[in-house]
Amino acid sequence: MFKESFKYYKSRKPPPSLKDVIDFENISNWNLNVKEIRCASRVSTSIFYGLKEPSTWKIYELVDNPGLIFIENPFTALGQRYWTVRCLRDFPFAPNRTNLKENFDLKHYQQMENQLRWTTLGYHHNWDTKKYSEDEKNDFPKDLAELSKLISEILGFNNFKAEAAIVNYYYFNSTLSGHTDHSEQNLEAPLFSFSLGQSAIFLIGTDSLEDKPTPIMLRSGDIVVMTKKSRLCYHGVPKILEEKRTPKWNGADTLEDFDDRNNILETCLNENSWILYGNFLKRCRINMNVRQVLKESQQSLSNG
Ligand code: OGA
Ligand code: MN
Repeated sequence: MFKESFKYYKSRKPPPSLKDVIDFENISNWNLNVKEIRCASRVSTSIFYGLKEPSTWKIYELVDNPGLIFIENPFTALGQRYWTVRCLRDFPFAPNRTNLKENFDLKHYQQMENQLRWTTLGYHHNWDTKKYSEDEKNDFPKDLAELSKLISEILGFNNFKAEAAIVNYYYFNSTLSGHTDHSEQNLEAPLFSFSLGQSAIFLIGTDSLEDKPTPIMLRSGDIVVMTKKSRLCYHGVPKILEEKRTPKWNGADTLEDFDDRNNILETCLNENSWILYGNFLKRCRINMNVRQVLKESQQSLSNG
């Protein structure tokens, strides 16, 4: 059933109906598969992660897919710009790895478009063996680790450590077929999935491909957290959809407490320098997929 749903939502001719796709921006009362959850929001966000005040966040869990948590865009417009610039200006460069053989420059973004597919951070995902290794590892970006940790604490998961990430870059023809993420030795820790740019239909299934998955609309800024039972469930992205409304990365923000560690402020706020990124984002969806690899008792992969 997973494959049938995937094929249905992937179709261009005819395009799929979106009527069964859960849209958290328009949750209707009759949607019994969604429950709103409250969070422990006594967490201080004094340094800049580009987040709105946690007490204003809307957080949901799927009833039929227990452990699948959805946070409706908790980012400010500036926050979305910050993470976009990190994903396009910084992350796809050494020592991190990408699918590209040659170095590129966003100034040639038309060439780069459709070319850049993924970047890996921290323990590098090995696409062939699906195994992590101590020899294939670089420092994990501090800001992304802190962002993930902060969100995990707000959701009540303690001691999360971001140790590996895949940044996926999707274009209008891209898909990500159904899979489970099980390369990590720690499969109890939550997995964080941040969306930026264009929208996507995300399918979350069960631990069996026989079951029908639940389709969810993901938009710029939305966060999916795969916790507990949902951590090992099949999921995929059959379709990227154009966001026709005003981009959520445009808009006025205040700049209180901006700790510009990565020298990004200027790029985000100056429309002339932002335009490169803004143009790229019009045709791209970025997904930062953050995982903990090691168990709490482990210092490295060799000591289990
Ligand atoms: C992944 C993944 C989902 C997404 O990178 O493993 O499932 O929303 N990404 O892009
Ligand atoms: Mn995945």
